Amino acid sequence: FLNKIELIDYLNHIKAMDKSIGFVPTMGALHKGHLSLVDFGFEKDNVIVVSIFVNPTQFNKEEDLVKYPRTLDRDIALLKTISKGEVIIYSPSVEDIYSNNVNADHFKFDGLEHEMEGAFRPGHFDGVGTIIKRFLEIIKPDHAYFGEKDFQQLMIVKKLVELYNLPTKIVGCPIYRAEDGLAMSSRNERLTSEHRSAAPFIYKTLKTAKKKFGTKSAKQVTEWVTKEFKNSQLLELEYFLIADVNTLKPLQRKSKQKTYRAFIAVYAGGIRLIDNIALN
Ligand code: PAJ
Repeated sequence: FLNKIELIDYLNHIKAMDKSIGFVPTMGALHKGHLSLVDFGFEKDNVIVVSIFVNPTQFNKEEDLVKYPRTLDRDIALLKTISKGEVIIYSPSVEDIYSNNVNADHFKFDGLEHEMEGAFRPGHFDGVGTIIKRFLEIIKPDHAYFGEKDFQQLMIVKKLVELYNLPTKIVGCPIYRAEDGLAMSSRNERLTSEHRSAAPFIYKTLKTAKKKFGTKSAKQVTEWVTKEFKNSQLLELEYFLIADVNTLKPLQRKSKQKTYRAFIAVYAGGIRLIDNIALN
């Protein structure tokens, strides 16, 4: 395993050969959604660095951090099956990243941090900003790849790069779904089989909401979604909202010039699942 200094040395050697570097940050427990980001990476870059690091400062609930699946051996085996190009795994220790100060820095992302996940998970985006800024400063990749699964995170990382003038281009990649439509997530593994069977309802509802949005107001669509989840025994809606993709502020009055997305967070037997869909 490379430590920080060894990684920087090795990447300098790669950059000296004029090869481009892509970066896919993850918290491990890898699935096909993560692997799809690596695939996208190889369309632009010669070498992909995949970080595997369960970042303690982005968890607002200690329990969630403790229970986060850690499957490093399996993750490494999965990454070894990739044959498109060279993958470098960076799996630092907490000390390597935080020394003895395991705290997040504080960020302002033009208000993006107050919406949705920011409102329901206080401090979460300070933790994400802290780790991604440190990774980008260590790795200095040409591109970094993020999933639209965490759309707000993608927008915040784009803002981070802009605010700090970092030389990396942030690339958003589409949501990879299971055959039944459920967005792939490391948390899906923790669902009971009953909740796993119920969970595709989330994407199904998003798709219907998208159809309804063609003729109905955001308020009407939101009311419909809320009612759908009231009828569900196994899934509990935390929020559903339709927001402007750039500001992530809830839609007030529909405008033809703006692009909207619907965002949802649902509890399935104590496991929190998020998803989103482009509306126009
Ligand atoms: P993690 O949840 O492991 O996700 C790592 C990356 O994979 C993120 O960019 C996420 O959006 C993407 N991803 C997850 N599931 C996906 C899916 N079904 N389809 C497409 N992309 C998907 O997000 C994090 O880790 C952390 O916050 C991190 C960015 C690593 C910072 O600690």
